[in-house]
Order: sequence, then C-alpha cells, then structure tokens
Amino acid sequence: MSFDAEQYKRTTRSQWEEYAAGWAAWAPLLESWLGDATERMLDMAGVTGGSRVLDVAAGAGGQAIAAARRAGPGGHVLATDLSPTILDHAAKAAAAAGLGNFDTRELDGERLHELDPASFDAAISRVGFIYFPNRDQALRGIHRALAEGGRFATVTYSTAATNQFFSIPVSIIRERAELPPPAVGQPGPFSLADPELLESELRAAGFGEVEVQVVDAPVRLPSAAECVRFEKESFGALHQMLGGMAPEDREDVWTEIEDALGQFETPDGFVGPCELVIAGASR
Ligand SMILES: C[S@@+](CC[C@H](N)C(=O)[O-])C[C@H]1O[C@@H](n2cnc3c(N)ncnc32)[C@H](O)[C@@H]1O
Repeated sequence: MSFDAEQYKRTTRSQWEEYAAGWAAWAPLLESWLGDATERMLDMAGVTGGSRVLDVAAGAGGQAIAAARRAGPGGHVLATDLSPTILDHAAKAAAAAGLGNFDTRELDGERLHELDPASFDAAISRVGFIYFPNRDQALRGIHRALAEGGRFATVTYSTAATNQFFSIPVSIIRERAELPPPAVGQPGPFSLADPELLESELRAAGFGEVEVQVVDAPVRLPSAAECVRFEKESFGALHQMLGGMAPEDREDVWTEIEDALGQFETPDGFVGPCELVIAGASR
C-alpha cells in the first residue's frame, strides 16, 4: 500500500487531539526527562533575552515555555502545532507561568511559509519534526521564517536500539497487531536517528554551521508499570497501531509490554534507555 501523506497527517492530528490532555498531564515527567536536552537545544538555537522564537510542533509547550522564560519580556515565543487542543494546554501553562510573551497558532509544520519571512531570531522543534512526511518543506519554511543569522535547533530520538523504552512497545504492538514494518523514508520516531541524515537535510534546506550532539536521556520513573501508564495515556500513535485489535487483546498487549520493560527496573526504580540527537544550524 502506498503512503498517503495527507491521510497520515489527518490521523496524526486526530491522535493528538485525543491524547493532548494526557501529554499535558505528564508535563512534569517530560521536563525532568527532556529538560537538559531542551536547555542544550535552546543554547544551540541561540535563544537569549529579546529573542523572537518560533516553536514547531510545540505540543503542550514545555520547551516553548522554557524559551519564553529565556526570551524575557523583550522577546516573544510563537508556539505552533497541528493540534489546536494541545495548543490550548500550552497556552494555559504559559498563562499559569505568568508569561505575557507567548502566543499559539494552529499551523501545520509544512505550511510555515504562511509566516512572515525573516520574522524570528530562533526556531526550535522538540520530538515533533520527525513526524512530518515532508521534512524538506518544513525545514525550508523554518529557514524562510528566520532572519539572516538566525538559528534553528531540534531534539530527535536516536536509533530504535538505543531507545528501548519506546521501541520495545512499538515492536511488540507491531508484532501482535500483525502490522508491516515501516517503509524507509516514512515519518516516525526513529526517522532521523542518523545524525548524518539530519545534517544533510539541514544543509539541503539551506542551513549552514551545523552542530550535532548525541546525548543519553534515560526515562526515570518508579516502575515499568508507570512507564506503561505514561505511554498508554499520552502516546496516541500506539493506540492507533492497536486499533485493529479486539479491546481484550489490547490489554494483553499492554501486559506483555510491561513484562518486557520490567528488565529496566533497578533498585533505584525504572531507568528506560533513551538516546537523543540534538542539532543546531544557522540561516
Ligand atoms: C511527541 S509530541 C511533542 C510535543 C512537544 N514538542 C514536546 O516535546 O513536548 C509531537 C507533536 O507534534 C505535532 N505534530 C505532528 N505532526 C505535525 C505537523 N505536520 N505540523 C505541526 N505539528 C505536528 C503533534 O500534534 C504533537 O503535538
């Protein structure tokens, strides 16, 4: 079956509409797990006092709020996403944090040419951009939206082998739901695992001064059961993969996932393997 990018994006949008509240509710875990990588991303994007920052696939806004704190009252953050419901969570979190320099806009990351050209100093995207069918169009849109000398930085997952907290659930579901393996080049969590691919895509879209780091970012939770609860409540794509199975069989699959993730329980709790790629580049 050929890949239908528009259908894929409609499904992605409805998944995130449905699981927006779950992702937002897990914000404290997201920030403890991804917080260090987020600070490095903001450093690589050059976000500082007064920066005008574009966040692409902003979700419930954790990284956009960190950017807004850095940008301060003289700067501004525009958080964009395909899902309006998840952006409502971002807007509420920014208001609760007392940030007056924060706006949201429902916008497909492949339609950034709708933004004014050269209107941002920095752009960021944290574990979002990997889900775009046409990354080249997104990168060109980011490039166009940045002012001369502006920086883009992103956080993505490294390989499936180094991200077993996520790849084990995906492969168990794939096997039990009898789904075919993803085709090369299709969007997905591990589509930008290769730092050389990420660098070449950035350069092809016109970026220079590319910098790439690979960092360890284990997911720490009290138990494997908590990791399953996190993924069950907030990873809509896993439910979509399970969609063709009977509800009672789905529960069996979650039990199998919890058993498999049990190997990462330690005396100090669950430590799920996760490796991230952080990249920055200049306009
Ligand atoms: C895993 S979440 C990450 C959210 C946030 N960046 C974070 O790190 O917490 C992925 C996000 O990508 C968004 N997304 C997926 N495809 C998109 C697209 N084509 N354009 C804009 N956003 C998209 C989803 O709606 C979702 O909010």
